[in-house]
Amino acid sequence: MRILGIESSCDETGIAVVEDGQVVLAQSLASSMDIHAQYGGVIPEIAARSHIEAIIPAIDATLQQLSRENNNQDPWTLIDGIAVTYGAGLSGSLLIGVLTARTLAIIKQKPLYAINHVEAHVYANYLVDPAPVFPVLALIVSGGHSQLVLFSNHFDYVLLGQTKDDAIGEAFDKVAKIIGLPYPGGPNIASAALQGDPSRYALPKAKVDGKYNFSFSGIKTAVLRTAQAEIGGDFRTPSTAIASQLTLQQKNNIAASFQHVAIQTVVEKSVTAFHEYHPKTVVIAGGVAANQELRKQLAAAIPIPIHYAPPALCTDNGAMIATLGCYKAMQNQPVADPYELDIQPNLKM
Ligand code: KG4
Ligand code: ZN
Repeated sequence: MRILGIESSCDETGIAVVEDGQVVLAQSLASSMDIHAQYGGVIPEIAARSHIEAIIPAIDATLQQLSRENNNQDPWTLIDGIAVTYGAGLSGSLLIGVLTARTLAIIKQKPLYAINHVEAHVYANYLVDPAPVFPVLALIVSGGHSQLVLFSNHFDYVLLGQTKDDAIGEAFDKVAKIIGLPYPGGPNIASAALQGDPSRYALPKAKVDGKYNFSFSGIKTAVLRTAQAEIGGDFRTPSTAIASQLTLQQKNNIAASFQHVAIQTVVEKSVTAFHEYHPKTVVIAGGVAANQELRKQLAAAIPIPIHYAPPALCTDNGAMIATLGCYKAMQNQPVADPYELDIQPNLKM
């Protein structure tokens, strides 16, 4: 079973062909991140335009790779279906992927699978040996989502909890902006934190209704107040005036203190869920799963190995979409109508 996966929900155009939900046969990734970095965050209009430019060359490159590895056969004879992200994400960005996939499904007469982006993040872990074993407890932490999900089987899961406001990755990005680190903030906070003291500032852990729900907007505000106080200002000091007045050591200490508490929050809830549901596997998924502090804290707190994918498979990519597409195809899940499939920007798990 070989599926072509198409991802375009945010600022990455990710294309890949995956076999049996296990092996990446070919892939290509184009990103408009460098352009967004100049503005300090993703500009939806620019992201959509970049997908338009990137998507056909990325598909071509992927299919050529596939063909080269298979005695120059027509790549379409090797592909059994097409999987595409139809939500959640930015409307303009999603549209480009979905319309491309629909067109290819019609012209090439391949079944089309509609993929939930957040669910697909979990499936990146099936590309890593050993594959997760059910029941699986998944901590999904990205720029758009923070969720704890318990999978009893493929396509059979319950949402245990989720963020009530900002996603954890969004908080990393906003804190980075306050202290003057470039977008995307996550990796930059992580490297600044290596030089900082995580106990320098006592930042609050949010209290939130629901055992497994999260909240990250409070800690972001606490960081803002801390930074304002450090430069001798108060709550009226504009956030844009702070970074230039902080020393490098202050920035590193803020990064380390924020990262420590934000990560501790998701780790504590994961540990509680682990003891309540006794999963056979714990996986972390989404862009923030690339965070070393998260991997370290979870591994120390949970007595079974934690599954995570290499960083390039944690952030948005086509392989995770193709992988979930393979499982949908192999388990005879419903196909989408290539004449009808619409985007769902607010799609939930
Ligand atoms: O999964 P992803 O690529 O896109 C979404 O679906 O949102 O996640 C992107 C998010 C960004 O907020 C980025 O700052 C964060 O993942 N991120 C990290 C790290 N690498 C990426 N956050 C913390 N530590 C990292 N090493
Ligand atoms: Zn994502």
